[in-house]
Amino acid sequence: MDVALVYNVKKEESTDAAATAQPSSPEQHATHTQTQLSPSADAFAEWDTIETIHAVRDALSLRHSVTLIEADEQSFEKLRSSRPDIVFNIAEGRFGASREAQIPAMLEMLNIPYTGSDPLTLGICLDKSRAKEILSYYNIANPKFAVISSLTELLSLEFPVPAMVKPLFEGSSKGIFDSSLVHSAKELTDQVTKVIEEYGQPALIEEFLPGREFTVAMLGNGKDLRVLPIVEIKFDSLPQGVNPIYSYEAKWIWDQSSNPLEIFECPATVDDSLKTAIEELCSNSYNALRCRDWSRIDVRLDKNGRPNIIEINPLPGILPKIADNSCYPKAARMAGLNYNEMLNAVLDAGLKRYTLL
Ligand SMILES: Nc1ncnc2c1ncn2[C@@H]1O[C@H](COP(=O)(O)OP(=O)(O)OP(=O)(O)O)[C@@H](O)[C@H]1O
Ligand SMILES: [Mg+2]
Repeated sequence: MDVALVYNVKKEESTDAAATAQPSSPEQHATHTQTQLSPSADAFAEWDTIETIHAVRDALSLRHSVTLIEADEQSFEKLRSSRPDIVFNIAEGRFGASREAQIPAMLEMLNIPYTGSDPLTLGICLDKSRAKEILSYYNIANPKFAVISSLTELLSLEFPVPAMVKPLFEGSSKGIFDSSLVHSAKELTDQVTKVIEEYGQPALIEEFLPGREFTVAMLGNGKDLRVLPIVEIKFDSLPQGVNPIYSYEAKWIWDQSSNPLEIFECPATVDDSLKTAIEELCSNSYNALRCRDWSRIDVRLDKNGRPNIIEINPLPGILPKIADNSCYPKAARMAGLNYNEMLNAVLDAGLKRYTLL
C-alpha cells in the first residue's frame, strides 16, 4: 500500500525556531488576544523529533511504500495530489485547541483513510475539560474541576487545596511543573496566573488525586480492542522532596536517555480487582470518547483507592529508543510487540476499520 506518514517535526532550538521557522510555537498562536509570547522552555515538547519520524517511517516501510508529508500549509495540496491509500497520522498540528484535528479534517474532506481518531475526538481530548464533561455524563470517574479564563473569575472561586493547575489544552507535560501541585490559595492564584499569562489559555484546576498513577496503552477497535499491560509511574524514583506528579521536569529533565530514571514498572504490580477496574475504566473511556486504533490513557487512584481518568491521549508519544522511556512502546513490548510490530498493528487496526485489510 501507499502510506503517507504525516507529522510535525520538533525544531532544534526553541528560541531560534520561534524566531525563524515556520511553523512557530503553538502557544504563540493559542489565542487571538495575545500578540507575541516568548517561547517557554517546553514550547516544542509535543512535536516529534526527526529520529522518531524516521523510526516510524522505517517500521511502516517493512510492509508498505511510505512517503513523508509535514503537517503545514502545503499539506492539503500534497495529500490531494498524492492520494495515498492511507495516512499514518502522528501530526500534532499547529495553533490552538483544535490543532490535532487539522490533518484528520483535511483527510475527511479529501476522503482519504487515516489511522487514529477523528477530528472531533482529537479536539475534545485536547481540551481536557470537554473530555471530562463527556466522561462525567457516562459516570466515568475523573477529578472534580473548574476552568478559569481570567483572573477576575478566579476571585469568586473557592477551590479546595491541594489541587493541580494545568493549561487547558496542552500535552507532553507542557505547563505542568513540580509547582503545578498547589497547597494554598496563594499558590493556586500564582499558578493560574502563570498558565493564563504564559500559555495564553484558560487554566484547568483539578482536585489532586493522591494515589498511585498508571498509564494504559489501548490498541484496536470494537471487539478487537486490547488493553496492553498497565504501566505504573513510580514516584519514589524522583529526586527527594519533589511532588509525586509526572511533571515536565520528571519527563524531560530528570529522566535522560543517558541516565534514565527507573520511573516505570510494566506490567504494574496490581491485584486482579484493581487490574480489572483499571482496564474497564480505560475501555469505557476509550469508547465514550470514540477513540480509534490507539490511545494512551492516564489513570490515578483517588483517596479511596478508586481509579480515575486524568486524561486521554489519542496521539500517544512513541519515542523509539528503549532508553527514551516512552510508555506506549514499553507497554507494547511487554505485550510481545516490538516497535515495528506495534506501529504496523496500529496501521492494521486502521486498515481493518476501512475494510482495506
Ligand atoms: N488531578 C490530578 N491529580 C493528581 N495528579 C495529577 C492530576 N492531574 C495531573 N496530575 C499529574 O500531572 C501529570 C501530567 O498531567 P496530564 O496527564 O494532565 O498532562 P499532559 O501534559 O497532558 O500529559 P502527557 O504528557 O501524558 O500528555 C500526570 O501524569 C499526573 O502525575
Ligand atoms: Mg498525561
